[in-house]
Amino acid sequence: MDRELKYRRLDQAPLEEIAALQKRVKDSSWRQTYHIQPLTGLLNDPNGFAYYAGEYHLFYQWFPLGTYHGLKYWYHTASKDLAFWRNAGIAIEPSAPYDSLGAYSGSGIVKDEKLHLIYTGNTRDDNWNRRPYQCMAVMDAEGNITKLNKPLIDHVPEGYTEHFRDPKVWRDEDGYRCIIGAQRMDLTGTAVLYTSSNLVDWMFAGELGTGLKEFGYMWECPDYFELNGQGVLIFCPQGLEAEGDHYQNIYQSGYITGKPLNRETLEFEHGVFHELDRGFDYYAPQTMEDEQGRRILVAWMGQPEIGYPTDQHGWAHCLTLPRALELRNGKLTQMPVEELKKLRGKQAGVQDTLSSETKSYDEIDGIAYELICEFRGIDAEAVGVEIRVGETERTVIRYDVTLGKLTMDRSASGERIGSEYGTARSCRLDGRNVKFHLFVDTSSVELFINDGEEVFTSRIFPQSGSKGIRFFSNHGIAGLKVTKWDLTQAVNDIEGKD
Ligand code: FRU
Repeated sequence: MDRELKYRRLDQAPLEEIAALQKRVKDSSWRQTYHIQPLTGLLNDPNGFAYYAGEYHLFYQWFPLGTYHGLKYWYHTASKDLAFWRNAGIAIEPSAPYDSLGAYSGSGIVKDEKLHLIYTGNTRDDNWNRRPYQCMAVMDAEGNITKLNKPLIDHVPEGYTEHFRDPKVWRDEDGYRCIIGAQRMDLTGTAVLYTSSNLVDWMFAGELGTGLKEFGYMWECPDYFELNGQGVLIFCPQGLEAEGDHYQNIYQSGYITGKPLNRETLEFEHGVFHELDRGFDYYAPQTMEDEQGRRILVAWMGQPEIGYPTDQHGWAHCLTLPRALELRNGKLTQMPVEELKKLRGKQAGVQDTLSSETKSYDEIDGIAYELICEFRGIDAEAVGVEIRVGETERTVIRYDVTLGKLTMDRSASGERIGSEYGTARSCRLDGRNVKFHLFVDTSSVELFINDGEEVFTSRIFPQSGSKGIRFFSNHGIAGLKVTKWDLTQAVNDIEGKD
């Protein structure tokens, strides 16, 4: 693509062009009801997630003028309760000299009653070589944001390439610490650490010591925290080969857990790498610890380098719902935060026994809803649920009991997305009981299995008439209990400070 077009700032676009884009977005039948989505253009990573001045602040990577990865801004959203959100406008605008080609991903931390936003400034030199800077902007309680006039880290340390970005900052007993995603000179991915006593002066501390010496060619968006006395590192390795049901997406997001980081040696003793999500559209998660001590995660509900059907409508992607993380037997579980119950409207429910049949029920259908569906005492080959069912469309969630496998199949979900990466995703599952907790929106589904042991996050693009929900058991019986709530509009589509 033409560079000038790709790196256009919002103020360089004619007002008629923006108005026409807004109209296309408004007419899109796939706009979400209760997920954070861009007003126009492309959204990607969540950034700067923090609790400050009585609100949760959640920013995201935003290119306003098209659905490609152009010049990135930080867009600001805020919420008092993690359920209802307001669009609060642009937070960080790219400008010369340190972030001229994009204010890339980063994190937020509160110090001296101000929210400090630490991010990567993307630039290129005269020969178009990438030059990343780690930069800072400071937000006050009124939402005014000021950029620091010089970068915090102005060069890449020796041994690493220009793929060096996505600072995540936290505080521990020694002061402030920052982890940055990096690529070694031998083109393997890793993460490095810096320390600071004041958030402004940073010292390179060294590379994070892990057992993953050759694990992809770049680690994006690293995030280190401690939960129940364990160390957890979440990161997005690029370049893993698919292995059976694993690593099926173009890029992965996952984690390792172990003993807390050794702050002297920077060694992190850890177990195996787990994927955080088993669905099609999930990347660049970011966490924060809130006032109640919960570790909350939000991710980008999308994947890089794949076209989506809303591109033709002038917008692309949304964020996932906020999820509370817990550690169960060394594995991270993700559950939608309790506050999302505030979105619940009309309720419907049913109890039944399925016997080698597929059934639907009155009032159990829809486009934007929460559904809890439990199969108990399963004595069948397979059970499952089909959502967004129309004449030719359906998205199938199937628990194959004999194979010990759970599959989400979007081959008939509607408009196709990234089918070169397959149309089904699976993970291992066993037991005679299973609980599916689903959040379905106009063009997405988030499936939490057995209270967040596994999660499948996916976009789907069915027609608006495809509203059916069906439950099935194949070759045998199973008890079924279903509760469904309609969910209401949760993000105002209008921009404003309050
Ligand atoms: C991940 C990522 C980050 C980068 C940002 C740019 O999706 O590539 O590494 O900071 O997106 O938008």
